Amino acid sequence: MTINGWQYLKTSINTKTDSTKAIDHSLLQQLFTSTDMGRLTDVFQDKTRNDQSSSWTQLWNSNEESLWDRGQPSPALVDFLEQHSAYIPSLHSQRRPRALIPACGRGYDVVTFALHGFDAYGLEVAQTAVNAGEEYARSQMGADAEGGDSRHFGKRGKKKAQADGVVGQTKFVLGDFFATDWEEGCGGSGKGFDVVYDYTFLCALLPEMRADWARRMSELLAPDGILVCLEFPLYKDPAAQGPPYGMKGVYWDLLSKGGDGIDGQKHSQSHGEADEVRYVPSDATWERILYYKPERTFKVGEGTDMLSVWRKMAS
Ligand SMILES: C[S@@+](CC[C@H](N)C(=O)[O-])C[C@H]1O[C@@H](n2cnc3c(N)ncnc32)[C@H](O)[C@@H]1O
Repeated sequence: MTINGWQYLKTSINTKTDSTKAIDHSLLQQLFTSTDMGRLTDVFQDKTRNDQSSSWTQLWNSNEESLWDRGQPSPALVDFLEQHSAYIPSLHSQRRPRALIPACGRGYDVVTFALHGFDAYGLEVAQTAVNAGEEYARSQMGADAEGGDSRHFGKRGKKKAQADGVVGQTKFVLGDFFATDWEEGCGGSGKGFDVVYDYTFLCALLPEMRADWARRMSELLAPDGILVCLEFPLYKDPAAQGPPYGMKGVYWDLLSKGGDGIDGQKHSQSHGEADEVRYVPSDATWERILYYKPERTFKVGEGTDMLSVWRKMAS
């Protein structure tokens, strides 16, 4: 049996004693980069925009999702939902807020949103992924699930969340993010989502698709909705081959500057990437309302991941 880099890392981290659990993150990131990421980059080498969906579907159908699947809920997302809920429109109103998680993979984030009170929609281009998401949601939210994996909750804790009793629904939808035909399956097009969450979707796309990603995000969000991005990988050279493509400066360029996100690194050096959360260029269509290094995130992004929250500017 072949063992890929991510599986190797998980095994080696889990078998360390507590005193040796301190991890050299740069080494870890390098190893991750050189194995799983190398395989992904190979698969997508020379693939055009038209080949993207079928290539992802092929990877799912040949059970290669461990190349990107983190195997657990996202600590950074959990903490955002528990600690920054004030940023979420309509979380405390009568109706349940609606979250969209495009490119949701196995659906850990979809279930996290639902367990925190959202009606959560997971979008995937591969039927195998949709099936995997449905199965995972059943295992976490079915009658025998006892409220799900405790890692869907942070300091607030599973017991407190259960006592509050606000659990939404999950729905997994087959569709291409860049098309509109799947929107009907999420309660109708034009309704708008309160939150859209991006983790490892933008970095998986060809750079030429980034401006369309931003346009679709804008179309899909309700006027007061927010776009939440767990930015990864920020340690990889944005000019290097992907996926995943290095994201340093890319979200900033696309959303704050209205650029194509391709020359992100240059823009990140010129303004606002790290320190000025609310700097808004005069031609901006999005405003970054929150930007921080999450205290907890996946091992592979520790020390480098950033969480950014964006809302559309009124036109
Ligand atoms: C790098 S994986 C990340 C999956 C998930 N976010 C995670 O963290 O496990 C990228 C995912 O995007 C999906 N995908 C790629 N292009 C898509 C598209 N146009 N619409 C919807 N899903 C897409 C792929 O099937 C794949 O599962």
